[in-house]
Amino acid sequence: MAGMILPDIDAISHEAARIFINFSKECIATRGRFIAALSGGSTPQKLYALLSSDRYRGNAEWSKIHFFWVDERCVPKESEYSNFRLSFDHLISRISIPDANIHRIKGEFGPEKGAQDYEDELKDFFGVGLPIFDLILLGMGEDGHTASLFPGSKSLDEKERLVIPVYAEKMNRITLTLSVLNNARHILLLVSGQSKMRVLNDILVDNERRKNYPAGLVQPVHGDLLWLIDEAAAGKFKRMKS
Ligand code: 6PG
Repeated sequence: MAGMILPDIDAISHEAARIFINFSKECIATRGRFIAALSGGSTPQKLYALLSSDRYRGNAEWSKIHFFWVDERCVPKESEYSNFRLSFDHLISRISIPDANIHRIKGEFGPEKGAQDYEDELKDFFGVGLPIFDLILLGMGEDGHTASLFPGSKSLDEKERLVIPVYAEKMNRITLTLSVLNNARHILLLVSGQSKMRVLNDILVDNERRKNYPAGLVQPVHGDLLWLIDEAAAGKFKRMKS
């Protein structure tokens, strides 16, 4: 695991955009396509806007880039709570990318059917075995959740399914499993804001407490993980362990 502490969310977003563009070129050069899984939440919004901006848009070969999502809320795709909508409004609607390259989770199908539909989509695309995403973008909640994998949830042990339904009082969700996340080539975990400081502290300095948080269990088996953290979230840490 490696990490970078950057001044603020702008700096995080620029660094993530630079990495996205570089990985996409590398993957397209070696395997002919770049497969990314996007996250919801507020943190990646600037990154999505940057990728579709004049500064970065022309540097990506969008026709060879495929977008998947790490999780989705069980709402229609037009909903303000839809992770797809966030990426659509700030990125996908502003670039020229074939519809066939967009592999969204159908939250409107509900948790079980939506999870099965997305699992079928992954199997069609990747074939047998665990999918290998070139890049997975993740965020972390104040409780240490990532994607829709919440602390203490039994779903953290899921080994058979690739996608699982998550039932919650507020909003049901659909998420990739930890095994799929940890099979990626590269993972970027973006963390911004003081409200994340306490949990981040537990994850980065205490190897035992780290395991209490799904974000702390993100540890790619063959790939690499980079935490991009802003100063507010880092708090007293000036340097990260690597
Ligand atoms: C979601 C996300 C989720 C998110 C974290 C952080 O569907 O909400 O995929 O895991 O990344 O909750 O959210 P913020 O970026 O809003 O802090």
